[in-house]
Amino acid sequence: MDVGAGTHTQPHAPHATESARAPGAKKTQPMDALIIEGGRPLAGRVPISGAKNAALPVMAAALLAPGEHVLRNVPSLADTRTMARVLEKLGARVEFNDHVCRIDTTRVNSVEAPYDLVRTMRASIYVLGPLLARFAAARVSLPGGCAWGPRPVNLHLEGLNAMGAALDIDHGYIVGKSVKLAGAHIRHETVSVGATAQIMMAATLASGTTIIEGAAVEPDITELGRVLIACGARIDGLGTRTVSIHGVERLQPIDCTIIPDRIEAATFLAAAAITGGSVTIDHCDPEHIAATIDKLTEAGCDIHAGPREVTISGPVRPAALKIDTQPYPGFPTDMQAQMMALCSVADGTSIITDTIYLDRFTHVPELARLGARITLDQNTATIDGVERLQGAPVMATDIRASAALVLAALVAQGTTRISRIYHLDRGYEALDQKLAALGARIERIKE
Ligand code: EPZ
Repeated sequence: MDVGAGTHTQPHAPHATESARAPGAKKTQPMDALIIEGGRPLAGRVPISGAKNAALPVMAAALLAPGEHVLRNVPSLADTRTMARVLEKLGARVEFNDHVCRIDTTRVNSVEAPYDLVRTMRASIYVLGPLLARFAAARVSLPGGCAWGPRPVNLHLEGLNAMGAALDIDHGYIVGKSVKLAGAHIRHETVSVGATAQIMMAATLASGTTIIEGAAVEPDITELGRVLIACGARIDGLGTRTVSIHGVERLQPIDCTIIPDRIEAATFLAAAAITGGSVTIDHCDPEHIAATIDKLTEAGCDIHAGPREVTISGPVRPAALKIDTQPYPGFPTDMQAQMMALCSVADGTSIITDTIYLDRFTHVPELARLGARITLDQNTATIDGVERLQGAPVMATDIRASAALVLAALVAQGTTRISRIYHLDRGYEALDQKLAALGARIERIKE
């Protein structure tokens, strides 16, 4: 569906799809695998890349303001490249070079985000609100589920409908036509990162004020809010559970820098902990990973945080833990699988409950193949720590489950082969290269 009159009707802007793929970035083959020899404590310094979950909404927000947006420290990942392709499909020009993503949305001339792209990355739905806000129309595929189960988007749709979008579902697509968004008072019983981002973006150009009660306060969301304010949006209450967005006529393009990836940072801390190594993570924000630092300290790690770095020394053997995942600033669900790998070799019995996703446990049977002793009861895992894990062939199933298998393989006796690591490459930039630089015996092969 092309956007209506009064918008850009130039022929499809010739945009270099290839440029959306960062040069030099290994294009992951569908069946790459990792071979890992366990038993080496990690040592050294590792730079943390830009945050995937902060970059994706900011990339979509570029649709709100015509012009060239410059996003710096954007991680080179399958997911950010997918978002670039979605934007190009809409007619934007995207250049992605050396972690700088230039997005020119002057000539956006379509409002359709197709199923074949959206199904590969749920966050593509972030274009919905901006398209409705700027073009008064959208046709965005429903994202469907993910590796571990249903991922509803009702809070996104209810919020936009409360603002007057009157969205229809037509053959698997979310459709909005001649939409004029108006402010609304929206209350979320469930904290939703995506819905908070979606509604906040749409509300920047709506008439009147939108209030979100029960808003997410993840750093990715407060950062999105800061970027929108820098574009000219009027937002109060960022970082609190009640955010107010006062609509404005138009926004300006932005030059911004993406915050460090707190989940990548926390994953490297867990990797140092599980191997009993000593690692410094650079370019991170210790405040964003406070919940993980607390749990790893409880597990017996020695951790020192500087302004932009954290140094960790792992214990000979981690102590058992009890973890309940919570919305930020609680313990992140995106670290649940990685901490389960650590608890697999802990001294004692650990209990991990995921209160955010009740079915995010596809890593459990794969960890069991490495010798982990885990029993599941609904959304609670009981992990009886073992002295040693044994290397074996295993299969990655989603981004964080893959990271959990890498951590377990780093400490397992012998060789582990992890297949389908395209899952890993969706959310971690050059994880194998960064681990090898810390002394891990890890090799990427073509299966
Ligand atoms: C974001 O997903 C992250 N993704 C996820 O990270 C992360 O696990 C999740 O937030 C929770 O922190 C990105 O930011 C791209 P939610 P999102 O809406 O926004 C329910 C990773 O590994 N819900 O906060 O989709 C939902 O089922 C990924 O990087 C509804 O019921 O998560 C869940 O139980 C995986 N209806 C809870 O809310 C909705 O409309 C929190 O989900 C939306 C969500």
